[in-house]
Amino acid sequence: MVEFSANTKAEPPTPCVRAFAPATVGNVICGFDVFGLAMETPGDEVEVRHRSDPGVVITAIHGDEGRIPTESDHNVASVAARAVLMESGMGNIGLDIEIWKGLPLSGGMGGSAASSVAAAVATDTLLETGLTKEALLQCALNGEKRATGSAHPDNVAPALHGGLVMVRPDAPAVAIDLPVPRGLTIALIHPHLELETKAMREALSTDVPLTLAVAQWADCAALVVGLYEEDWDLISRALMDRIAQPTRSPFVPGFTEVRAAAIEAGAVGAGLSGSGPSVFGLCRNLRDAEVVANAMIQAFASAGLDRIDSYVSPVDSRGARIVGGTA
Ligand code: HSE
Repeated sequence: MVEFSANTKAEPPTPCVRAFAPATVGNVICGFDVFGLAMETPGDEVEVRHRSDPGVVITAIHGDEGRIPTESDHNVASVAARAVLMESGMGNIGLDIEIWKGLPLSGGMGGSAASSVAAAVATDTLLETGLTKEALLQCALNGEKRATGSAHPDNVAPALHGGLVMVRPDAPAVAIDLPVPRGLTIALIHPHLELETKAMREALSTDVPLTLAVAQWADCAALVVGLYEEDWDLISRALMDRIAQPTRSPFVPGFTEVRAAAIEAGAVGAGLSGSGPSVFGLCRNLRDAEVVANAMIQAFASAGLDRIDSYVSPVDSRGARIVGGTA
């Protein structure tokens, strides 16, 4: 779908396309860099329009308090859009890009992936490139790599596909959609802290004891079986992380208590969303998720963190999409 912006009578209309990409929960606790799931809201929006000169230019960013770089080599949206141009053999086309950030910076909600994916999808639609979803995934990963120093696909893939996705991180990454049990709902609390994914990745040990690795890949397999069989008990037992969360959770005040509160309130599993600081609980239904969110809010408050945002969302089933309307 291509929108046409309002212009003066003398000027031809400038086609433009706006895309939304949702927040995502990376890792889904047990599968570091392997599993990710998409929330229905919130998310980022990116609008792309033709410009007369070649080059990709960020014209405005809203909702970032001036903190996101506008230089096209350093902005994830322009990096992803340029990758789409190059991949489709349209490197001589010029684009203007405007970004609306609905996701926090360094919040563990997949903000860089959402901007990258929305830019890739908007550019693809504007130019009718005909690129495959696999190709768009690779283009968006260019943006993610720019932001985090790593092309991990567990946020980009669910932001693009929607749903709960597993990725094989080979190059090129392969994303596989997994079944989402009926009712699965996310309660996510974003405390107003920032943890840069790059730093949180560098904090991790690169050596994993074999016994921990065995337990962890068994849990990854168990989660997949649990999802296929809608076996809530197996899903619950699989949602453990022995690899990344133990190193990262001390950066989030009250994490142990917040996680315990979520489980006590009925979550089937709870943990860091991506590299944190957001903490999420997976729940059987919307009503449970609301109870879990309130329990997590209270636990964060007891830890002295009362500046938080709270989200209760079903798993998004659509992924990135074109949204209407431009000024
Ligand atoms: N898999 C990534 C990590 C997700 O844990 O570093 C970051 O959002």
